[in-house]
Amino acid sequence: MLQISPSILSADFANLESELARISTADWAHVDVMDGHFVPNLTLGLPVVEAIKAVSPIPLDCHLMIEDPDRWAPQYAEAGGSSVTFHVEAATDPVATARSIRAAGARAAFAVKPGTPFTPYADLLPEVDMVLVMTVEPGFGGQSFMADQMAKVREVREAVSRHGGEIWVQVDGGVSQDTIGQCVEAGADVFVAGSAVYGADDVPSRISELRDLAAA
Ligand code: DX5
Ligand code: ZN
Repeated sequence: MLQISPSILSADFANLESELARISTADWAHVDVMDGHFVPNLTLGLPVVEAIKAVSPIPLDCHLMIEDPDRWAPQYAEAGGSSVTFHVEAATDPVATARSIRAAGARAAFAVKPGTPFTPYADLLPEVDMVLVMTVEPGFGGQSFMADQMAKVREVREAVSRHGGEIWVQVDGGVSQDTIGQCVEAGADVFVAGSAVYGADDVPSRISELRDLAAA
């Protein structure tokens, strides 16, 4: 199933409750957690995830761009993340981390930065529910889509198909009306979009436009 996960990184942080209400027709609310170490930007942490979980009309898709996810990832599941994604570049024991996310009741996922190949991590597929292929360098919204990552999306889709089961393939960064088609064509099925959604005059119609383009 094709799913849209708007990133609240592009929302008004002073009004997160109403900003979440604006994306209630989406499948997930993508929550970018940045620690100022793994990426050169700092956003929000556990208390804010807990607070927005209480008011969000849709489940939270937490994307952890932090160091030591082995320690923190399960706590994001406990705080209300229905899906928790950690970066393999930061994890010491990705198998244990994925298992601890699932044990806390959430879907587990791992992410790869643009410069990180997927193949060395293919063995993790039995441990996860989703793989996130970054289509920008993590850290900031509003960057240009990296079309050269589509080869990796294809590779992940093929590995997931060979593996069987229901593992989703997510893309994040620069996904818009102009770029979503290539992502679908490469095999992605969960689309994160920050500026393309929150930058629209009519947010719900932008979400349905992205959905229609993904299904086309
Ligand atoms: C980037 C974040 C993305 C970001 C996407 O580090 O992981 O989720 O919000 O924003 P856009 O869609 O504007 O590229
Ligand atoms: Zn993200």
